[in-house]
Amino acid sequence: MSQATLPQTYPAKHGTDMEDTYAIFPTVEVTRRTVIETGTTALLLSSLPRGALAAGTGQVDPVPTSIALRINGHLHNLTLDPRTTLLDALREHLALTGSKKGCDHGQCGACTVLVEGRRINSCLTLAVMHDGQSITTVEGLAFGEDLHPMQAALVEHDGFQCGYCTSGQICSAVGMLAESREGAPSYVTADLTQSATELSDDEIRERMSGNICRCAAYPNIVAAIRQAMGEQT
Ligand code: FES
Ligand code: FES
Repeated sequence: MSQATLPQTYPAKHGTDMEDTYAIFPTVEVTRRTVIETGTTALLLSSLPRGALAAGTGQVDPVPTSIALRINGHLHNLTLDPRTTLLDALREHLALTGSKKGCDHGQCGACTVLVEGRRINSCLTLAVMHDGQSITTVEGLAFGEDLHPMQAALVEHDGFQCGYCTSGQICSAVGMLAESREGAPSYVTADLTQSATELSDDEIRERMSGNICRCAAYPNIVAAIRQAMGEQT
């Protein structure tokens, strides 16, 4: 059986006095048995819950935080890990799975919801930051059995294929039209003194550029938004 011995002492970096020698490594005989036992210990450590490990390292898990969110008109009291994103709070805690997790990095727009009427990527914000606020998801846009005009227009214009981006597109388009009605310009707005109630296709494309459609249903989405815009103004 092969054996090796690790050094018992380690010479000090500074100074030459042998009294400065540190006793860092105890003598350990590395045998087959040591390796098997050490490996078993590592396996046990990796399978321990994080809280148990944190107790040994001084790390402390965050205290759960209680918040109230008004979602689609209904008040929800939640107690969450404060690191929970708004998207995960909606999907995992409230089973509102209409908002989709595409990239989880703020790059696709599939998770778009309206917070106090303004569109945001719910994967990029923490639920606790919206305590007391009103949130509208795609589930809250319809009026009973009647689709929201933006939903109806998407259906009429065949503005989706797989549908994964669609709820984000719809929420984003609703928020975008509200922004333009309030006169918010976009990067391609030529005349900042003009009202932005009538949007060109370039304006719509620019304002919706944060919502990616992997099925490339863009022409139909733009057509649907033009129709909904006419119905809403
Ligand atoms: Fe939020 Fe992609 S999932 S932007
Ligand atoms: Fe498939 Fe847009 S419809 S990603």
